[in-house]
Amino acid sequence: MDDRNGWGRDRPVPAGSPHQPPESFVEQANVTDEAIDEKFEENWPECWERAAGSLSWDEPFDTVLEDGDAPLYRWFAGGKLNASFNCVDRHLEADRKTHAAIRWEGKHGERETYTYRDLYVAVNELAAALRELDVEEDDVVTIYLPMIPELPIAMLACARIGAPHNVVFAGLSADALAARMDAADSEFLITCDGYYRRGDAFNQKGKADNARLSLEADVRTVVVDHLGADLPHVLGDDEYDYHDLREEFAGRTVDPVPRDAEDMLFLMYTSGTTGEPKGVVHTTGGYLAHVAWTSHAVLDVKPEDTYWCAADIGWITGHSYIVYGPLALGTTTVMYEGTPDYPDRDRLWEIVDRNAVDVFYTAPTAIRAFMKWGEQYPASHDLSSLRLLGTVGEPISPRPWNWYRERVGGGCPVVDTWWQTETGAMMLSTLPGIDEMKPGAAGPALPGIEARVVDETGADVAAGEAGYLTITRPWPGMARTLYDGDDRYRAEYWEPFSDPETGDWRYFSGDTASIDEDGYVTVLGRVDDVITVSGRRLSTMEIESAITDVAGVAESAVVGRSSDREGTEIYAYVSTEGGFEPTDDIRDAIVDSVGGAIGPVATPHEIVFTPELPKTRSGKIMRRLLEDIVNGEELEDTSALRNPEIVGEIQTGREE
Ligand code: WT7
Repeated sequence: MDDRNGWGRDRPVPAGSPHQPPESFVEQANVTDEAIDEKFEENWPECWERAAGSLSWDEPFDTVLEDGDAPLYRWFAGGKLNASFNCVDRHLEADRKTHAAIRWEGKHGERETYTYRDLYVAVNELAAALRELDVEEDDVVTIYLPMIPELPIAMLACARIGAPHNVVFAGLSADALAARMDAADSEFLITCDGYYRRGDAFNQKGKADNARLSLEADVRTVVVDHLGADLPHVLGDDEYDYHDLREEFAGRTVDPVPRDAEDMLFLMYTSGTTGEPKGVVHTTGGYLAHVAWTSHAVLDVKPEDTYWCAADIGWITGHSYIVYGPLALGTTTVMYEGTPDYPDRDRLWEIVDRNAVDVFYTAPTAIRAFMKWGEQYPASHDLSSLRLLGTVGEPISPRPWNWYRERVGGGCPVVDTWWQTETGAMMLSTLPGIDEMKPGAAGPALPGIEARVVDETGADVAAGEAGYLTITRPWPGMARTLYDGDDRYRAEYWEPFSDPETGDWRYFSGDTASIDEDGYVTVLGRVDDVITVSGRRLSTMEIESAITDVAGVAESAVVGRSSDREGTEIYAYVSTEGGFEPTDDIRDAIVDSVGGAIGPVATPHEIVFTPELPKTRSGKIMRRLLEDIVNGEELEDTSALRNPEIVGEIQTGREE
């Protein structure tokens, strides 16, 4: 096998047979102009004016792109707008007051609908209250809320008064909250008493209190009483009840503050490969233009749709595609507080059915779980309202991709969207009304975006070969910098593949990928998920993809075990689908599949069957933890896991 690039193979995992968008979809699609790529290309960067033009501006911008201080780019500079006005007020002006903005589905079957008018009232009252609590323009407000309507309300209230929000995922610990508030110089917090997790009332305020104790600054805190008598709490100094504030400021309105397009809209902390979490800075104009445009062009969202992104708003996916993108378009966005398997494994399909959801967007980890649970769950509901499905967050191999399209979508188009916290919005995806879909490949760069897969020297690799995924031009939704400074931003994302001398700036995604003759990119994994076995560099995700292609396999995680004697050995942790016992037949099929897709060099030395893989709350498999287990290392704190109990099981298995 050719090993020029050191990735141990010269061809990507076979992508499965392509699919054409169905005629019925194309007929109604938002974007169907086959020349759209060329049009963006010929007119770059002005092509992005089209995206910005869908927004309401208080003052027009002077330039589309300023690149004088690259890689610190500025988009739509001089223009002024307000994100809360764009996501709320303008839909009232368009006479859509009674149209549902948010349909909230609670954990225990509670339901709430906020019309655009209701949302307007709530956002204004909270904005007035925040002002009264001395939140000024540019003060960072931290929001530590689970998936309840007050979370988007709080974000939009902050946006209204020009206070950047810093949403911290509700499942993170007190220490993580404190570290993020400290790093963001944030002296305001919006949290709640608690929320239900697996049936129990979980005390969120206790965590917030602990975080506040460890912070030097006094933190003014708004507390949403979500659980009422199920979890009584008392308010201390500097603490204010959300509902009392709403009552106190009932009917109050606050003029949306015109923000410069380049003013910060929010901060979002994400983990880097090493060191402290990175505070990714997103600004107002470019971000909003990019999320609105991709919601329209890729997710095909229409104002009359009921659209559901089943992510958590505590991560970037929820910011961009539960809150800002869909609300900028004036559609109905569904928000779900619970988990997919409570009270039963058909919960999501019950919600799709009852709400007649048109577009559904989720992550491969969820899709693999659905596949594992079995097709009877989606089959027990009427899912015919679904017109388009989307996936994001990890590579998805052809088998779950096809399962999702057929069993959930009834053959509708599926968009596999690649992007990152740092890119703000989608970067690679098919356009569902135009492009052929290739299961297993995310798709080509979207119009106006240019992606290249390159070797260490920055030269393009040949079609089908593995390399580093880079983006060669700026784009509106891009992070502008990191909160702790431009230096780390330049060093992590721009220096690896740029040549400042010639002004050749390239963004490095941190991912490895391959690109085919049609420009479709298959993401292989993060650079930090590469293991070297017998002198060959292998992508753990690539091996996992070959394993999950085996019938009966639900999920797998591959890690390296290193020893002086054996070098690095490949350990594969595998869980099987419901109804499939872990058998020697599956074991043999795994060995064959990996051998076929990559080569015998990638054959796992050990295949360990486990009922579940350890996962973070956002659903990412914790490979590092498995790596520590196989290497007999001391384990890091596992309290941030969704399923910490599985660690004990896996460890016990190791000792036997
Ligand atoms: C990383 C970014 C932005 C969405 C949520 C995750 C991986 C994302 C795909 C995809 C293969 C994907 C990449 C990327 N990723 N989408 N469609 N196919 N991999 O945001 O936490 O910033 O993670 O997720 O590795 O770099 P994030």
